[in-house]
Amino acid sequence: MTIPQPSPFQGPPALAPGAPRRSLVTLLLPLLAGGVVAVALGVYGGLHTPTGFAVGPAGFSGPLAMKSWLTTGAFLGAVVQMTSALIMYGRLKVAAPAWIGTLHRWSGRIAFVLTIPVAFHCLYALGARYDEPRVMIHSLLGCFFYGVFTAKMLALPKRGLPGWGLPALGGLAFTALVGLWLTSSLWFFTTIGVTL
Ligand code: HEM
Repeated sequence: MTIPQPSPFQGPPALAPGAPRRSLVTLLLPLLAGGVVAVALGVYGGLHTPTGFAVGPAGFSGPLAMKSWLTTGAFLGAVVQMTSALIMYGRLKVAAPAWIGTLHRWSGRIAFVLTIPVAFHCLYALGARYDEPRVMIHSLLGCFFYGVFTAKMLALPKRGLPGWGLPALGGLAFTALVGLWLTSSLWFFTTIGVTL
């Protein structure tokens, strides 16, 4: 029987003497940059004339099927990343294996990379659409997701972040990706069918 060892990742490390005081100011620039990215994607998606074509379906029956499966892969990667974060921060009473940090980073990277060809098709071939509630929520979540992701990546190397900073940004990115999956892949699988 393994005795759960206290997780080495009990939240952000204690500040060394002389280290900058934790303050919200350190989050301002990452949040601002994230906001600019989200708005820029929304404006582009609104102004750009949809081309109807962007990337080939790569062996799938069509672009919607390809995007729905890639988004499902990104969703599963995000679930692994969120679960590893909960273990790292001691929210799940599970002994944290030494490789949990690596799993957290790589599951996040793979999830993010899988969204790129999908979002490229959405923005370039389809653009942002606000004519139907599902598609409007989806389009806004898509822009918000990249904004939050940008803010998290810019905040990561910063010292003196408020303790809740990274978990909050990570949680928002995860929630946005879940919302994207529900408003697209789940719609596709339940409307068109679970087809490749
Ligand atoms: C960046 C901003 C984004 C915009 C403006 C956008 C917009 C759209 C639009 C207008 C559609 C067509 C909806 C329909 O008529 O059914 C669509 C489909 C889709 N989008 Fe996006 N999207 C964005 C980002 C994303 C992201 C980040 C993902 C995945 C991580 C994603 C996944 C999908 C999938 C799987 C479909 C096909 C299923 C469907 O038609 O609903 N989108 N998107």
